[in-house]
Amino acid sequence: MTIEDNIQHLLNKREEAKLGGGEKRIESQHKKGKLTARERIDMLLDDGSFEEFDMFVTHHSTEFGLDKQKFLTDGVVTGHGTIDGRVVYVYAQDFTIFGGSLSETYAQKICKVMDQAMKVGAPVIGINDSGGARIQEGVKSLAGYAEIFQRNIMASGVIPQISAIFGPCAGGAVYSPALTDFILMSKENSYMFVTGPKVAKTVTGEDISIDDLGGPDVHAKKSGVAHFIAESEDEGLMLIRKLLEYIPQNNLEDAPITECDDPIDRKEDLLNEIIPINTNQPYDVHDVIYSIIDYSEFLEVQRHYASNIITGFAKFNGVPVGIVANQPNFLAGVLDINASRKAARFVRFCDAFNIPIITLVDVPGFLPGSAQEYGGIIIHGAKLLFAYGEATVPKITVTLRKSYGGAHDVMGSKQLRGDINYAWPSAEIAVMGAEGAIEILEGKNIKAIEDEEERQNYIKTKEKEYREKFANPYNAASYGYIDDVIEPRNTRFRIIRALRALASKKDMNPPKKHSNLPL
Ligand code: HXC
Repeated sequence: MTIEDNIQHLLNKREEAKLGGGEKRIESQHKKGKLTARERIDMLLDDGSFEEFDMFVTHHSTEFGLDKQKFLTDGVVTGHGTIDGRVVYVYAQDFTIFGGSLSETYAQKICKVMDQAMKVGAPVIGINDSGGARIQEGVKSLAGYAEIFQRNIMASGVIPQISAIFGPCAGGAVYSPALTDFILMSKENSYMFVTGPKVAKTVTGEDISIDDLGGPDVHAKKSGVAHFIAESEDEGLMLIRKLLEYIPQNNLEDAPITECDDPIDRKEDLLNEIIPINTNQPYDVHDVIYSIIDYSEFLEVQRHYASNIITGFAKFNGVPVGIVANQPNFLAGVLDINASRKAARFVRFCDAFNIPIITLVDVPGFLPGSAQEYGGIIIHGAKLLFAYGEATVPKITVTLRKSYGGAHDVMGSKQLRGDINYAWPSAEIAVMGAEGAIEILEGKNIKAIEDEEERQNYIKTKEKEYREKFANPYNAASYGYIDDVIEPRNTRFRIIRALRALASKKDMNPPKKHSNLPL
């Protein structure tokens, strides 16, 4: 062989690898409206930045005639590249090779990128599109999954891990994405479940379609498994690029700070009037968020799940933050099981990756009733409480209106190591609302009044007294639980100044093996 032949041989092999399972299967992938693994990686990464590993890997199986069926890459494309110039590690399952199913060598390829990402401290992005364990490889494939799970666990809280689901993701395979920080699903062609519709039918008799069991709608709205839903794969990949703008490379770094020419002292007069006079009237807390953050750019996380609490990323003068806000527009912003779980996970992510937390409070309390109690609201509410109390990143809380009872303590209160706690003049920080309080405190006296009009007047007077005494921010401020009562239109400036002051904050939890989060 001449040198030219050698080079040509290499180039031919590269071309062969790039064809995956062959043109026919690529065509079939495109017909389903799906991109190939390589097209996805190209779209995700900065142009020309992809450096591929293990292109020449093949499986070593001989069962079921597999020795005669070998494809270069063995069904997963792996390597590293850059997003906005920052190094990321990627793997993309290639459905054109054995349905993207996972073999022993395939798992080793994924483990290799995860190991290296851990060594250099860079995010890992996995693009899932797979028939699960490669059936012909039996237990080796299961072991391969477990190797990946173990790495997901070790990487958790050290490097950001992001999963895109652009095809099937079933059986135990769902647990790798579930162990990562964010799951994004495409609106078409994606689904996730532990057992598929056929098994569900056999075991429980339930007749259900694949979409109704594990489609993107289900995981966005009902289960809360998916953090983001994208209309298309292109949109999903762009969303991952956007997400990385708010998060650091690893737990020892800060998220990148960007230039910002949105004025830091921009006053928003509409905020002075945004809280309705009637305290039971809702408003959209998104309007508050949009008007205080840089350029109104808000990347909402779990937008369609537990809409009574809003979570997402934004920037203040170019500094990335996580925002948690009660949403009076949905269930009056009450804290329930789903909202507590959603916000707790978000707060813990921010804390793990040095992202300051801004909390906007308007919460009437925890949702009462048997459904919540039987579902374990005590434990789930405790998750959010725990997350706030454990977090050592800068924590800035602004109470917009209601902050009642246990929910007051939970939502970034001073005693959970809130660093700077502001309140608007409309804040009502108390054990409960006036109606409930007077019913309890004055029950006997109210009953004793026979005349209806007199009774109503008595109730009104007592409620007014209570409101004047407790339904304001000044009682809490008199104890120093609130650092300052601020004019709503100045909120952006006050948060930016607080972030500046807290930029060098150092806080520690006592040394321990790990906490015992109420799971
Ligand atoms: C080997 C597989 C495969 C698998 C698909 N293929 N899944 N090969 N192992 N798990 C192959 C097919 O034989 C076919 O090969 C090609 O991939 C495309 O598959 P199709 O069935 O033609 O595609 P489609 O109609 O789109 O259906 C996709 C699918 C279906 C829904 C994913 O293939 C399917 O149900 N596969 C089995 C899924 C499954 O039960 N996996 C095990 C889950 S348990 P050719 O040569 O014809 O192109 C699991 C445990 C993990 O994963 C445990 C971790 C702890």
